Amino acid sequence: MPLLTVGHRGLMGVEPENTLRSFRRAERAGLDVLELDLHLSKDGALVVMHDAKVDRTTDGYGAVRDMTLAELRGLDAGGGERVPVLEEVIDSVSSPIQAEIKDRDAAGVLAGLIQRRGLHDRITVISFHDEALRATRERLPALPVGLVTGRSTALAPERARELGAGLVSAELARLDAGVVARCRALELQVIAWTVNSSEDLARARELGLDGVVTDLPEIARAAAAD
Ligand code: G3P
Ligand code: CA
Repeated sequence: MPLLTVGHRGLMGVEPENTLRSFRRAERAGLDVLELDLHLSKDGALVVMHDAKVDRTTDGYGAVRDMTLAELRGLDAGGGERVPVLEEVIDSVSSPIQAEIKDRDAAGVLAGLIQRRGLHDRITVISFHDEALRATRERLPALPVGLVTGRSTALAPERARELGAGLVSAELARLDAGVVARCRALELQVIAWTVNSSEDLARARELGLDGVVTDLPEIARAAAAD
């Protein structure tokens, strides 16, 4: 069975993560959905970056929160790529997006953008943070949201249900048949991160998952095959 393929931070195994190059590459490679991470700049822009600090992924240092968008624009995010804002990604590719709220305060700004641009059918808001999902659902009750889990995966099905999420995106190593069965009983879609080897892909298939989040084009190709 073909699995849904989600490109992790674009296609971060082959391009600088969370950059336009990475999202375009994932789209060209045929991934079904693009996943990205969101923080807020000092002046309130929805910045596409995984960490709260710019140190690991750019040539700068310091917290995203303490920098203006103009300052963030001056950084090299890898191979000359700039740090994108969410709207640029939306305008550069046409794929569905899983927008992961890292900074809880980004929820309101993201909901406003979805409303203003009419992105209800294109964006699924995902997060590890209950309050970010609650805030999203308060503003946009019909928008699909997903709960992301790692260590707390055993509690994911009931927590996702309580939050009104339709999707659980869980760390593969923490998933087991029991958790998947409880998700199924609650009619929750289940995908796993991060699936980057044929062994992991075989495990995802054995668990009967709906999809995989991957860094690698070859894993996406294998996952999409019958
Ligand atoms: O899509 C979920 C996955 O991205 C969560 O892990 O740390 O890569 O954001 P992380
Ligand atoms: Ca993420």
